[in-house]
Amino acid sequence: MEIQRLIWSNGEVNQLQKELAPEGRAEERPIAILFCDLRNYTSMSSKNLTFDMAFMLNRFYTALGEPILMNNGIIYQYVGDEIIGVFGTTGGTKEKNCTDAIRAALGMQYALDLLNKTELRDFNITLKSGIGVNFGRAYVGHLGHPTHRQFSVIGDPVNVASRIQGQTKLNGVNILISKSVRDSIKNNPIMIGESFDADLAGIEETAELYELIGFKDMDLQLELQASLNLMLDDEDKFAALFYNNVFKIAPQARALFRRNMTDQGRLLTHMLGGIVYSLSRPQHLTTGLKKLGESHVKYGVKLEHYPVVKQAMLETIDMTLGENKTEKTMDAWNAALDFVIDAMQNAAKAIDMRETSINEQQEIKQAS
Ligand code: HEM
Repeated sequence: MEIQRLIWSNGEVNQLQKELAPEGRAEERPIAILFCDLRNYTSMSSKNLTFDMAFMLNRFYTALGEPILMNNGIIYQYVGDEIIGVFGTTGGTKEKNCTDAIRAALGMQYALDLLNKTELRDFNITLKSGIGVNFGRAYVGHLGHPTHRQFSVIGDPVNVASRIQGQTKLNGVNILISKSVRDSIKNNPIMIGESFDADLAGIEETAELYELIGFKDMDLQLELQASLNLMLDDEDKFAALFYNNVFKIAPQARALFRRNMTDQGRLLTHMLGGIVYSLSRPQHLTTGLKKLGESHVKYGVKLEHYPVVKQAMLETIDMTLGENKTEKTMDAWNAALDFVIDAMQNAAKAIDMRETSINEQQEIKQAS
């Protein structure tokens, strides 16, 4: 489907980024590297069945891998109980790559919290993580035996990121970032807690490390990303509730829908996910929304339908998130829906203007 190709899924972007790395050699690139370690894994594995540990590890990898993918990152490797994410292997400014990595780190914390509260509740276990983020010039390429090459990221910044992660446990903090990460992000948008001087193995100078607490102001993408999985935990239920809310506000809109409503609901929730992922790649999003706005003109959708859909969507989000809803989350969805609706309405207005202009020209021709 056309829209799907324009709004790329995170999995596709992840794959594409890996494919763009050079074959059989490595190129130096400025990247941010994130190491996330499952803190209490060793003590847990001695107390739990291997089968249960595999289940938990798999849930951990999935839930915490998602924020990496949602922020333009690549899940580089799983090493035991560690996930390694890299940001910026195909370009991007150092500020963008570091901001992506930081947002992923904060998103991983939200994701772990949610995992503990939901799927792992029955195991009576609370997983904890430590995350280290570093920025620097590393080498990226597909390396190895010609019959078995692997996507590889090598260099000092990678080793340092791993050691920064090690310092989280020693200092009793959740996320530590290096000075290079902190200095790459302009205008001071992040909240820093304690700072530490650390002697990292293999590094001559003492490293300055900073505890990352969060963003100072509401970060739209982080709020949307953190609420998306919770909202779409049961996609069909979310969609059914949404359309129920739409038709309660505007019963006459029901006649516009010809497709089976379950299929329609899946297209909508898929699109919502795509929009959240694409906010970190806005150029794709704008093109996708223009096409979506144009297709809605063909479905018979009018400009005045959009506020109805916005209201129904906000009500659905509110009901679905329940006690997990915060003011920040609702503000973020409000702003995101305004952005989406604005782009779709602009596309519809452009069609309307073109048609008015053609009609006027025809009237002038007929009159003359
Ligand atoms: C936030 C804004 C909206 C989003 C993200 C959205 C999303 C979608 C998606 C993904 C589809 C599937 C087909 C396609 O990709 O073209 C779709 C179809 C459709 N949408 Fe929307 N939509 C929005 C606003 C609206 C509004 C305001 C209405 C008016 C009530 C509406 C009515 C329809 C109809 C009638 C269809 C076609 C259904 C069919 O063929 O049976 N949508 N929409």
